[in-house]
Amino acid sequence: MTSRTIQGLSERGTALAISGGIRDRFGSVLGDPFHAESNPKGFVNIGTSESYTMLPEVTKFANERVRFEERDFSYGDGPWGSERLRCAMAKHMNKHFQPVQPVDPSDILFSNGVTSLCEQLGFSIAEAGDGIMFTRPIYQAFRSDFGTRAKITPVWVSFRGDDQFTTSSIKHWEAAYDQASKDGITIRAVMLCNPHNPLGRCYPKSLIIALMEFCQKRKLHLLSDEIYASSVYDVPSSDVPAVPFISVLSFDTTPYIDTQYLHVLYGMSKDFASGGLRLGCIYTRNEHLFRAMGAMSQFHWLCNPAEKLAAVMLESEEWMEHFQALSRKRLAERNSLTRRLLDDLSIGYSAKSNAGFFIWADLRRYLPSIARDGRKICGWEAEEELMEMLRENGVFMTPGNHLSADEPGFFRIIFSQEESVLKEGMRRVGETIARIEKE
Ligand SMILES: Cc1ncc(COP(=O)(O)O)c(C=O)c1O
Repeated sequence: MTSRTIQGLSERGTALAISGGIRDRFGSVLGDPFHAESNPKGFVNIGTSESYTMLPEVTKFANERVRFEERDFSYGDGPWGSERLRCAMAKHMNKHFQPVQPVDPSDILFSNGVTSLCEQLGFSIAEAGDGIMFTRPIYQAFRSDFGTRAKITPVWVSFRGDDQFTTSSIKHWEAAYDQASKDGITIRAVMLCNPHNPLGRCYPKSLIIALMEFCQKRKLHLLSDEIYASSVYDVPSSDVPAVPFISVLSFDTTPYIDTQYLHVLYGMSKDFASGGLRLGCIYTRNEHLFRAMGAMSQFHWLCNPAEKLAAVMLESEEWMEHFQALSRKRLAERNSLTRRLLDDLSIGYSAKSNAGFFIWADLRRYLPSIARDGRKICGWEAEEELMEMLRENGVFMTPGNHLSADEPGFFRIIFSQEESVLKEGMRRVGETIARIEKE
């Protein structure tokens, strides 16, 4: 035992114990949820990205349409996804992603969530300490998904005020790559989060191609996380035409990137309002990567009844059409409502979002300059303080720092909620910032 370890733990165990984990961060946020009638004093969580508005439809479907058999409680076909589930997912993707080449079920590997797939990818394409490139801001868990055990170094791409959804943003990717290389980091991949979490926007085809060429030139993998592919909605009030979602599977990419370096991540958590099923998949035509990731499948074994449920859902095509159309309609409604609530509070936001469950809100002018303990604060400390003040007032939204934002003061609001939750959440936000303004 070295002096750096906690008694009884290894060095790596000690590092994990000290860093804490998801339980420390989310224990208080997920417990005691607000409900307008049954728990009006409960906690309003508008920070966790889930399709809350569609949970009743999935629940009804599961209770009415799924029957379990003895086989569903066995180990099933194996840990990587049953034949039935992979066929159902391939069929769904062939219908909704418009692939130029049909998705073959044998090129799909399932795991218990995209979260786990990121870790499996990290182990398979990089050595500990190697880098993967991410935009700023970005979905907060990528850092730990790739970092906690696979030990990937995040290489952040800052856009310095430029629009990261235009092809001219490539210069920032190049600058970040060059700087990381100077710092001795070997970069292995680019993460393309499309639609983007937390900015809620889709990448135009021209930029996707530019990123493919960027990767091809440097022999990098392009990991395309398309988990919000079908959660793209119309913003009724917007006069700027939004960029529609296109999958990397939907056009011939062979002139731009080697197929062995292009991989798509998808799953049940967002478009199907089923985060609790813990089902994610990767589509790759890289046989060696498939085998490497599959060699870790036993640690990510799927829950067989969950596989059955997902397969029945995906196979019920008529129900699925209705479900996803309703989901998009509700997303559009709740997005509009949230914009109105933010306007009422004079909180700015990125008006270009048309995908995912989030709005990127600008609370820079409400950052407190004095902490609750009387200290003068600014910058990231002020953002953290605002998050804590909001938490004390019973509402959580994800601060930009957790999402690796460039600048303090932005928060991600999840609007895929019941109206009563959004209204109460924004009421508590309004109360908190009014108190700060009185300072
Ligand atoms: C962009 C993105 N990728 C992956 C995930 C995690 O997916 P899963 O529930 O399949 O682990 C999330 C969840 O918020 C996400 O927003």
